[in-house]
Amino acid sequence: MDLTKITCTEDFRRVAQRRVPRMFYDYADSGSWTQSTYRANESDFQHLKFRQRVAVDIEHRSVASTMIGSPVSMPVALAPTGLTGMQHADGEMLAALAARDFGVPFTLSTMSVCSLEDVAQATQAPFWFQLYVMRDRDFIRNLIARSKAAGCSALVLTLDLQVLGQRHKDIKNGLSTPPKPTLRNLLNLATKPYWCRQMLGTHRRSFGNIVGHAKGVSDLSSLSTWTAEQFDPSLSWKDIEWIKKEWGGKLILKGVMDAEDARHAVDSGADALIVSNHGGRQLDGAPSSIAALPSIVAAVGDKIEVLLDGGIRSGQDVLRAKALGAHGVLIGRAFLYALGAGGQAGVTRLLQLMKNELDVSMAFCGRTDIADVDRSILLNPDFFDRF
Ligand SMILES: Cc1cc2nc3c(=O)[nH]c(=O)nc-3n(C[C@H](O)[C@H](O)[C@H](O)COP(=O)(O)O)c2cc1C
Repeated sequence: MDLTKITCTEDFRRVAQRRVPRMFYDYADSGSWTQSTYRANESDFQHLKFRQRVAVDIEHRSVASTMIGSPVSMPVALAPTGLTGMQHADGEMLAALAARDFGVPFTLSTMSVCSLEDVAQATQAPFWFQLYVMRDRDFIRNLIARSKAAGCSALVLTLDLQVLGQRHKDIKNGLSTPPKPTLRNLLNLATKPYWCRQMLGTHRRSFGNIVGHAKGVSDLSSLSTWTAEQFDPSLSWKDIEWIKKEWGGKLILKGVMDAEDARHAVDSGADALIVSNHGGRQLDGAPSSIAALPSIVAAVGDKIEVLLDGGIRSGQDVLRAKALGAHGVLIGRAFLYALGAGGQAGVTRLLQLMKNELDVSMAFCGRTDIADVDRSILLNPDFFDRF
């Protein structure tokens, strides 16, 4: 694949669709139930219109910023995504290397294929770790201890997956890792030589953070069965207190979509919250993340760093989120498609394209520093104020 011919996320998506086995491509490219929230996450960005400005000196520009106090080359982190090592062999390690070299944070999911230790060894640099709270608190304590030992610089606690939203395609495809050797899967794998070649070169094909660490897991190959058995539906704000204490470092709360919950997040003493509906994979019918952002920013001001994910596919989307008050954003599918299409080089190319689009679009709006981007770069900044 000639990466110089790839110019946007949609190009990566199309290549990934060709290269990645169907069950894993579908796992990424789907939302729950009718997928209305999944679609709105992307399409709602288009409602926000930029003010084109001219004759401003835009020669010297910077999109460098900080996220939870650490410098970043642009305010974009890689979101935690489960089974990333099934989009591409050793996917978490490759994406983490691309992020490290580009100067943006990488977040490792609890449900990753490569383990905390694998990523730490590959990158020799800090990364963020995303935690799902399981019923087995000894396992959680151990996971937190492992993330400290791996040198993680932030813990991202996901709050919106105590139960699992139904994603039709995963059920129809019989999603599992590694894929079961059914005739349907084998026929599909036969059409994915790039993926198979890469996968033959690694031994990492299951949930690396869990295998050999969690007790009483009856069916690890099935994400939905395991989630139903292990994830703790009783998780509440008081658990966040002990997790914060146990962890002792920077804490980011992910999955906040409501102003009242955002105030709780401030009270919990967390360092940041992520406005997120899990990429439209959990509560279908919830608003898009960008629609929910203004009310949350209004509720918490700058008492806590407000980040956003959901539907970000381009540098312009990053700019729109910044304009409405997000301090930074995370990207999920955009980097998964790039990874599935071209491994580490694909993710690097995606980050370059996003950064360039962010920088040039900011310039067209007459701004030279990302820190000066605010609602005034938009013609209709109040578009989502009714939410
Ligand atoms: C394939 C896939 C797997 C995901 N797995 C996780 C996960 O393990 N933990 C988590 O907190 N969020 C998970 N998410 C949600 C992402 O962190 C993020 O909220 C979402 O992808 C953002 O939307 P976007 O994909 O439109 O950028 C996952 C998302 C996708 C697409």
